[in-house]
Amino acid sequence: MKFGSIDIDRPVYLAPMEDVTDIPFRKLCKKFGADIMITEFVSSDALIRNVQKTIDKMKILDYERPIGVQIYGHDHDTMVEAAKIVETVKPDFIDLNFGCPVKKIVKRGAGSAMLKTPDLLVKIAKDVAKAVKIPVTVKTRIGWSENSINIVDVVKRLQDTGIKVITIHARTREQMYSGKADWSIFEKITAIPNLKTYIVGNGDITSPESALEKFEKYKIDGIMIGRGAIGAPWIFRNVAKYIREGILLQEPSVKEKVAIAKEHLNENVKFYGERVGVLLMRRHYVNYFKGLPNFRETKIKLLTSPSLEENINLLDFIAEKWGNN
Ligand SMILES: Cc1cc2nc3c(=O)[nH]c(=O)nc-3n(C[C@H](O)[C@H](O)[C@H](O)COP(=O)(O)O)c2cc1C
Repeated sequence: MKFGSIDIDRPVYLAPMEDVTDIPFRKLCKKFGADIMITEFVSSDALIRNVQKTIDKMKILDYERPIGVQIYGHDHDTMVEAAKIVETVKPDFIDLNFGCPVKKIVKRGAGSAMLKTPDLLVKIAKDVAKAVKIPVTVKTRIGWSENSINIVDVVKRLQDTGIKVITIHARTREQMYSGKADWSIFEKITAIPNLKTYIVGNGDITSPESALEKFEKYKIDGIMIGRGAIGAPWIFRNVAKYIREGILLQEPSVKEKVAIAKEHLNENVKFYGERVGVLLMRRHYVNYFKGLPNFRETKIKLLTSPSLEENINLLDFIAEKWGNN
């Protein structure tokens, strides 16, 4: 896949995830080999109003490259203006969010609601791509509902907008995150004649085997992993090893997972301070230690303990007690 500064064969993306793909987590994913990353989504409305918290969300660091900043919104002019602001922080690309299913976003016509107004979606894509010099990409879903799956048409219409990559989470908005992603749609998408955009597939990839299967079966250019990386940033190492060398690595041992979780915790505390840093680890802990037998009591402690010291002690306890798992 070649666009802008990026030239990577079969890239594996870290998905943008609000409150998850922050700088500390991105550091771990990068270390384990995520090829391309995208920030959490950033509100175009808030950007043009100069809201500091929003501006902070588009902070990127040099070692994170290639990285894109994602924006969302419902208004054409605001999206174009916001894209110009994003360009000033010099990401490798700008990603337009036309896929978010969250109620407070779609009720204003943004995110996946854009699939209900494809004329506006295409116009925003085209005019943003024209307004900035860096590449522009799109992330979306397959349609609003089962009865209005229009992604093939949307992809066709995006061909002449200057958009470089279209990432598709193979669910409808109505599905939110339930049911299974319908990957069969990629057969229709990649069969579109004279495709000029790269196609990245997304939805339910949680193992090296499922990653390779998606590339081979659906002829897509890249894949994106979201929830499969939460509390499992090593998935990028294992996927890369498998799709590029055919070698299936084992899941890390509990001791290794503890070491990775500690590194993550320390990064969080360094970035956010102790209180927030510890709090934001909780979503990740659940996955780091998923499936450990008789873990309930320790899990509750880990998910309620507010101090760094207690967190470290609990992690040491996990390594000691479950170290042979
Ligand atoms: C907690 C959470 C936050 C998310 N935030 C965003 C976001 O800010 N922008 C976006 O495009 N998608 C967002 N998504 C969707 C993911 O990028 C991805 O499309 C979805 O999780 C499906 O991929 P997966 O099955 O690999 O998780 C979010 C998903 C989750 C679970």
